[in-house]
Amino acid sequence: MTSDAVACTGLAYTFGGTRAVDGLDLTVAEGEVFGLLGPNGAGKTTAIRCITTLLPVPAGMVRVFGHDTAGDRMAVRRLLGYVPQQLSADQGLTGRENVALFARVFDVPRRERAARVGQALAAVDLTDAADRLAGTYSGGMVRRLELAQALVSAPRLLILDEPTIGLDPIARTGVWEHINAVRAATGMTVLVTTHYMDEADQYCDRVGLMHHGRVRALGTPAELRRGLAARRGTTTLPTLEDVFREVAGSGLDDESGDFRDVRSTRRTAGRVG
Ligand SMILES: Nc1ncnc2c1ncn2[C@@H]1O[C@H](COP(=O)(O)OP(=O)(O)O)[C@@H](O)[C@H]1O
Ligand SMILES: [Mg+2]
Repeated sequence: MTSDAVACTGLAYTFGGTRAVDGLDLTVAEGEVFGLLGPNGAGKTTAIRCITTLLPVPAGMVRVFGHDTAGDRMAVRRLLGYVPQQLSADQGLTGRENVALFARVFDVPRRERAARVGQALAAVDLTDAADRLAGTYSGGMVRRLELAQALVSAPRLLILDEPTIGLDPIARTGVWEHINAVRAATGMTVLVTTHYMDEADQYCDRVGLMHHGRVRALGTPAELRRGLAARRGTTTLPTLEDVFREVAGSGLDDESGDFRDVRSTRRTAGRVG
């Protein structure tokens, strides 16, 4: 029997009066790269934090490879690697020390740690910079370091929240190439959030367009684009951004993102940029 990497049914999460996630149904198949797309405030990070067990699931059900996040938190945590939206690397440690810290936290056996840390750094092309302080890294290198932190425990599911925000196009491509290389080597499943539609189109097997706490459209990028072309009766293929505008109405720079989102996005972008 195979179980899906992620299965959310009726997931809901409310902050005070804000319904951040509002009855989310979402399935990520084992081995795929799934893009959870949506404007600031759509509920992507909240949904991700429920899937990683960092937030409790107050309503609905979340399973990771068949394990219920409510009942089996540690089993879920052992299966996944997570790159949060807010930067997590410690500027005052070297790249190697940062990854070694994650190896300890994620219970990589002591005898294997040094080798696994070296492999994770090599997988993101940071071997030469491994013994420099992370504070001296460029934005793209910091994001790759965080990828190494998430990969050192050899996760079956890698979850990345806006991994390329604030990066220049070359650095963005670099992050994706490293994700894809590890995936090709290990068969790891990837769940990624982004509001860069071009990236989703290029790198995701399937995408879910999230708006106001729920997935509003789901499919491969090509399916969604062809679907919109059919509805419009045109032969020119619309972009994924066009699809999103149809789904979300008001578009990508949505007013539903509030000051807190903008501020945290800027802080993230500033620190990586
Ligand atoms: N810690 C929090 N306290 C209060 N409201 C929050 C908190 N985190 C998120 N929200 C609100 O929940 C909604 C969804 O936010 P979030 O999940 O961060 O969306 P996204 O990641 O798609 O930008 C937004 O309206 C946001 O303001
Ligand atoms: Mg977010």
